[in-house]
Amino acid sequence: MFIFSIATAYHDFAGKLAKQAHLKVGRVEFKKFSDGEIYVRVGESVAQKKVYVVGTTAPPADNLIEMLLLVDALKTAKALHITAIIPYFGYGRADHLVESGEALSAKLMANLLHCAGVRRVVAIDLHSPRVEKFFTMPLVHVRAQELLARTIKAELFNDQSSALTIVAPDHGAIPLAKRMGRLLRARVAWFEKIRPQHNVAQLGALHGDVAGKIAVLVDDMIDTAGTIAEAANQLKQHGAKKIIVAVTHGVLSGPALERLKQTPIDKVIITDTLPNVSQKKFNKLRVVSVIPLLAEKFRRI
Ligand code: R5P
Repeated sequence: MFIFSIATAYHDFAGKLAKQAHLKVGRVEFKKFSDGEIYVRVGESVAQKKVYVVGTTAPPADNLIEMLLLVDALKTAKALHITAIIPYFGYGRADHLVESGEALSAKLMANLLHCAGVRRVVAIDLHSPRVEKFFTMPLVHVRAQELLARTIKAELFNDQSSALTIVAPDHGAIPLAKRMGRLLRARVAWFEKIRPQHNVAQLGALHGDVAGKIAVLVDDMIDTAGTIAEAANQLKQHGAKKIIVAVTHGVLSGPALERLKQTPIDKVIITDTLPNVSQKKFNKLRVVSVIPLLAEKFRRI
C-alpha cells in the first residue's frame, strides 16, 4: 500500500510512518507555475489500490491546495479508496457560530476533503467534539493523551513526592484534563477564560487546588502561548510547586517561544503533529512523536 505526502511539510513524517507501518512512500511530482499555482502528478500506479495521504489543512494555504490536488490526482489515477492522515487539522478552531455571518471553517475543511475524494480521515486530537460531527465519512480520532501521560511520568520519575493536579486553562480543555486525570490518577482544576479578541487570552478564577502540587497544564494546542503563559504565571501565584505543560499540537506562532521562555514553566511537552517543530529552540521543550501511535492504528485499521 502506498502513502503519499503533500510537497514538503509532511515528507519526513510520511517517510517515518511508512517505515513503521510497512507502507511504500509513493512518488508525486509537485511543480509551481510562475503565478504560484500548483501542479500535481502521481508517479505510481494506484489503480484499484487503497492509498494514504499525509497532509494538513493548516496555513500556509498551499498545504491545503496541495492535499486537495493530490487527492484529486489519486482519483484520476483510479485509486480505490483514499484515507487522509491529518496530524494537525488546521482551521478547526471555528467550530461553532458565535454570531451569524462568521465562517464555520472546521466544517468547510471537512467538506473540502470529502469533496476532493477523501473517504476516511485519521486525525489527532481535534479541537473539540463538535469538529468530529462535521466529517460525513469515517473518522479515526487518535488521542495523544496516553503518549503525553507516559512522557509526564518519565519526566517526573525522580520527583514522586508531590501530588499532581491536572489543569485545564479554559472550559474547552476540561474533557482533555479529565482524560489526563484518569490516566495519571490525579485531580482536575480549571481556569475561567475569556477572549476579548483573537489571540488574546484573559484568565479568571482558578477552580481547584494547586498549592504545593505539581500542576500539569493540558490543552489541544499552543498557538501564541498567551493562554499557557498566563495560566502558568497564575499557577505559580497559586503556589504550584512545579509546572509541566502537556499539549498535543505545538503551533507555536508569533511570540510563543518568547512567552514560554519568560514563564515559570519547568517543562513543555508537545508532539510532532506540526512540521518543523523539532527545530524550535527552547531548552525546556520536549517533542514526542505520534508516529508510533499512528503506526499502531494502521495495524488495527
Ligand atoms: C482554545 O480554545 C484552544 O484550545 C487553545 O487554548 C488556544 O487556541 C491557544 O491559543 P494561544 O496559545 O494563542 O493562547
